[in-house]
Amino acid sequence: MGVGKMYPIAQSVSKMQEPTWPIFPYGGDYNPDQWPREVWADDLRLMKKANVTIATLPVFGWVAVNPEEDVYTFEWLDDILGRLESEGIRWCLATATGSVPAWMTHKYSDVLATDSNGVRRKHGGRHTFCPHSPNFRRLSVNLARKMAERYGHREGLLVWHISNEYGPYCYCDLCAEAFRTWLKARYGSLEELNRCWYTAFWSHTYTDWEQVEPPYTNGEQCCQALKIDYSRFMSESVLECYKLEKEVLREITPEIPITTNMMWDYRPYDYHRWAKEVDFVSWDAYPQYTTDPADTAYMHTQMRGLKEGQPFWLMEQSPSQTNWTAYSRLKPPGLLRSISFQAVAHGADAVMYFQWRRGRGGFEKLHGAFVEHGGDENNRVFEETAKIGSELAQIGTRLQGARVPAKVAILMDWENWWGISVSSGPSRDIDYPGVIKRFYKAFHNLGIQVEIVNPSADLSRFEWVVAPMLMMLRENDAESVKSFVANGGTLLTTAYSAFTDETDLVFLNGAPGPWAEMLGIWVEETDAIPPDDLNGMIWKGSKPMDATILAERIHLRGARALGHYTKNFFAGEPAATVNEFGQGKAYYLATFPKAEDLTGIIADLAKELGIASPLAGGVRPPAGVEVTERVKADGERHLYLVHHGKTPASVPLPEGSHRDLLSGEVIEGNLPMAQYDVRILVKEG
Ligand code: GLA
Ligand code: ZN
Repeated sequence: MGVGKMYPIAQSVSKMQEPTWPIFPYGGDYNPDQWPREVWADDLRLMKKANVTIATLPVFGWVAVNPEEDVYTFEWLDDILGRLESEGIRWCLATATGSVPAWMTHKYSDVLATDSNGVRRKHGGRHTFCPHSPNFRRLSVNLARKMAERYGHREGLLVWHISNEYGPYCYCDLCAEAFRTWLKARYGSLEELNRCWYTAFWSHTYTDWEQVEPPYTNGEQCCQALKIDYSRFMSESVLECYKLEKEVLREITPEIPITTNMMWDYRPYDYHRWAKEVDFVSWDAYPQYTTDPADTAYMHTQMRGLKEGQPFWLMEQSPSQTNWTAYSRLKPPGLLRSISFQAVAHGADAVMYFQWRRGRGGFEKLHGAFVEHGGDENNRVFEETAKIGSELAQIGTRLQGARVPAKVAILMDWENWWGISVSSGPSRDIDYPGVIKRFYKAFHNLGIQVEIVNPSADLSRFEWVVAPMLMMLRENDAESVKSFVANGGTLLTTAYSAFTDETDLVFLNGAPGPWAEMLGIWVEETDAIPPDDLNGMIWKGSKPMDATILAERIHLRGARALGHYTKNFFAGEPAATVNEFGQGKAYYLATFPKAEDLTGIIADLAKELGIASPLAGGVRPPAGVEVTERVKADGERHLYLVHHGKTPASVPLPEGSHRDLLSGEVIEGNLPMAQYDVRILVKEG
């Protein structure tokens, strides 16, 4: 098998300050390794025409630069990188480890991942590696080193792009062994592991470390704490592969920022942990024709929150259709521009695409690109991308670096997501990100900016913290939220929060465990609400609203009721409360109203706190219009308006006259907007 000695685990690598950019990165994935050189000259010509400032390559070029062990064929890459450089197009230089070559998996079988039934996969596809494979670690790091040595000091190099959309998961014997080592370090003793995993249940007690196995599909599926720990372990294990590459890049090119591109709603890895290891967050957005623009806004906000508000890169989006859904729909004219600026509105400092040119063959030959099959600049998508490129070339760098001035934080936690997902009960219908999104959308509907952060983030810059369904609560986080409230902050939390500790053991005082005193309630029982038999609640004096997902029967232990249930045997009992704690207030929703009703509740609380949209009078934006703000370090404020809806809207601008950075127009009063209109307004005078 040729495994040899274990390849080392990366140590923490020196931190870099927040990067700033000499250009506005506009461009994307470029695969010259799929094309004969005759095409390259045309690529360069068209890139200039499309106002491309950056190319990402060679993401999947491993075999093209390293066709067998110790053999390197960089000449073609030298050529194309040189051409890009001389045209002033910067490189988002991939370490080329995004896809494993066949020679490697055939030579070293440990490279291939093993599935949850314990079956080793065959070669094919991408993301096929085992994160504990010593050969994968060795060979990927070697390649990263070669790339850094060869290109690290060239002018073209702007950033490093390690691998691509990491996604492996493995259950092989090497991983099982590494998991036991990881558990020993985490728990210290088998007794402690048995206690934390509650293994007395069903005679699961382990009497030897060797008995501990990964949660195979055909094995241990009932120990929930084991599953949560395996998620933690896998997330860490794959991150180590990233860190190993990062370590050599940092050593050779200490000034060059490093990232890896993340994915939409990706549960397997804890991106808050990952974000600590990237110099800037980058991610790939693929909204479909059915996607609510507020969901895309949510994803951008989540990505920005991974580094607590630092701007991110939109590393990929499709210039038009994708090829991997049931219906590969074209983006209608104007949509690409509006969603590109939507990303910027939420904190993107780069707008990039997959892909430059549609492939001639292969799985992605039907995926959208700047350049169509056999095409040149005379096609709709190219013209649209060129227009966006020219706008960003004019104003992009002025927009970069600005922060979103959010006073509200929504807490989101991957470990909690895992905990909720593996729990048997109280309902199979619980979608944790869906719950977070519901709260996000309430704020989004109102045009109020929020940051989505980990519960461990510094909360002191916020006035209002919203913690939806934070079932699994770490001790430090429980304390930090408590001191946030004690110091005058406002908290809104919900049913199924503060229920278990980080090993999934229920708090002995019941819910809301360490938050009981702060919230002034005790949760006696939790009812799951089926969609065909909803409960109802009244918030203050409102009309009855639907109550969904869960309904807790709570007792007031100091808190005041703000709402009550309207149905079931507990009709009339409290469904919403508030409690004063220190100098702050802690609100509790014992059930989950639907998005529009929730918007009303959030509007109520926002009013009390004086938090509102940036529009005139702090009003709710018209339907379909998205409102955000970004503020530069020198205080310049950019008000972004993006109209996603079909119905024309009239937007009440804040007082005074404003210059639209895109059109140059000066406008004031009520601004008419049609679908896909975008405005970026700066106050005049
Ligand atoms: C992902 C990948 C790209 C490409 C696109 C297609 O985002 O990173 O390499 O496969 O999907 O949509
Ligand atoms: Zn493995």
